[in-house]
Amino acid sequence: MTETLQTLLAPIAPQLAEVDKLFHLELGTDLACVNTLVKHVSRFRGKMLRPTLVLLSGQAAGGLRQEHVTIATVVEMVHMATLVHDDVLDEAELRRRGATINHLRGNEAAVLLGDYLISHSYHLCSSLQSQLASRTIARTTNQVCEGELLQIDNRNNYDLSQQTYIEIIKRKTAVLCATCCYLGGVLAGATESVARDLESYGERIGMAFQIQDDILDIVGDPSAVGKTLGIDVEKGKMTLPMIHFLRTAPSEHRMLLRSLLASRDGDKTEKIRNLILPSGSIDYARQFAGELIAGAKASLQSLPLNPARQTLETMADFVIDRPM
Ligand code: IPE
Ligand code: IPE
Ligand code: MG
Ligand code: MG
Repeated sequence: MTETLQTLLAPIAPQLAEVDKLFHLELGTDLACVNTLVKHVSRFRGKMLRPTLVLLSGQAAGGLRQEHVTIATVVEMVHMATLVHDDVLDEAELRRRGATINHLRGNEAAVLLGDYLISHSYHLCSSLQSQLASRTIARTTNQVCEGELLQIDNRNNYDLSQQTYIEIIKRKTAVLCATCCYLGGVLAGATESVARDLESYGERIGMAFQIQDDILDIVGDPSAVGKTLGIDVEKGKMTLPMIHFLRTAPSEHRMLLRSLLASRDGDKTEKIRNLILPSGSIDYARQFAGELIAGAKASLQSLPLNPARQTLETMADFVIDRPM
């Protein structure tokens, strides 16, 4: 994370530390074998984007309460559950610069640990007075699953449309970011209209976030990103740069990409990167994400002008500028 963003996040640092504490406290059990797995996933902290969105949205919309820390912990648990399961689906070995659970302990333990995390997130969420929070979180996780199912339904579909790609990333990634911002606002007493604007901000940065993630999967530096890259190509997941390339590149290049995607060539990720890099399709995806970010910032206009709102604007830029 850039130094400026780190400084801007200082006002929510105490609450983020509380999230970390609550996360450990909630997941602890008397079974050493479960604790070992929980310890492994919680030793490697990610960017904490989703808890940060809850806290900043709350602060921007009127101020933080204890419920914000609870929901921020809930969304990080949901996120971690999806990552642990996603790494099984993707057969990924590296996550947050550490070994994935599936790599370390096998798919069975990873599937069950993902279930454990999601069930803990519901348990913690149901401790809140507000039924709205529980219903919103549950609806969100339903949509994440729909997005993942739509994605595997389109595996190796080289004719995937941009529209369906957007539908996939909206559900699998953006709705959780949208919910973070919406609930952050609602719990701070925001009007429904302001909370919906925050939701729209979250949805847009969530989509841009996934587009940037998909760009990094092709051109990122594995040591900076800290997770297994090249998986989208390996697993036949069509992402925005590839969709654009297959629509706009000269026909022999398009045919080459199709045949590489379908091949078992061990170097296909590198070959595909070299084919796409000079084409302008990465720039197209970057620009698409940039427009979403501009829209996200515009959604914040109904909020009072305060430092937290400004930090949400900086966060929006970070989402597409980040190297990890
Ligand atoms: C990874 O999310 C999964 C996607 C939605 C692309 P993050 O990049 O936020 O993962 P962590 O939490 O920082 O590890
Ligand atoms: C994000 O997609 C998946 C989730 C929403 C869990 P990816 O498969 O691209 O995520 P990474 O790249 O493995 O983090
Ligand atoms: Mg993955
Ligand atoms: Mg990815």
